[in-house]
Amino acid sequence: MGAKKRQTRGLFITLEGVEGSGKSSQIRHLVEVLIQAGYPVLQTREPGGTATAEVIRQILLTASPHEPVTPQAEALLILAARCQHVTHLIMPALRRGTVVLCDRFSDSTFAYQGFARGLDLQWLREANKVATGGLTPDLTVVLDLPVSVGLARRRTDREQQNRLDRETERFHRRVRRGFLALAAEEPGRMTIVNANRPAQEVRDELTEIVVGWIARPRRQPRRRS
Ligand code: TMP
Repeated sequence: MGAKKRQTRGLFITLEGVEGSGKSSQIRHLVEVLIQAGYPVLQTREPGGTATAEVIRQILLTASPHEPVTPQAEALLILAARCQHVTHLIMPALRRGTVVLCDRFSDSTFAYQGFARGLDLQWLREANKVATGGLTPDLTVVLDLPVSVGLARRRTDREQQNRLDRETERFHRRVRRGFLALAAEEPGRMTIVNANRPAQEVRDELTEIVVGWIARPRRQPRRRS
């Protein structure tokens, strides 16, 4: 489709990882740190983030086993939610100069629907480009830990489990391998943090990476005349 990368003024940061990697609590802490430092911040998540996208999230995470969601339907629902999210929340915030912190984004689609479900990655990338208009995160941190450790954390809390958590351990190992492969492909954008450590240590490293990266001098996008 060849969509042009959208020009933005804010910064778009995403956190990725396998189930139980602790993304959600780490992102909450990061938001506090950035607000304290005086940055305008928006915290959001995928699938979700807008009213319509949150309805799609419910469908995705609670669908009945009597009518299994096909891998293709799953991918298309996720992309529909992303399109709403990018259009109505993320892009307007970036245009206002906000630092947008998003819990999962396109890399989750490539890892879960591509590497783990086996959908064609090239197709996913093209369809994702349609959904995002070419928006890519400026910085992505992958919280990495062995799948067995992450799943054990989630399985102690059955209430938190969703349809995808209940996939096999092999599925989640493919997800992890997917994230690591994606990070190896794009070392300039993606950074891996070892999340198999006490939360405080992970928090310190993550804060250092993100705050250091935001504070780095960067060129302003050129205005179109
Ligand atoms: P969460 O538990 O981190 O909130 O994520 C919700 C679930 O959605 C999680 O099991 C991963 C899954 N997911 C995908 O399969 N593909 C995607 O593109 C995204 C964003 C999430």
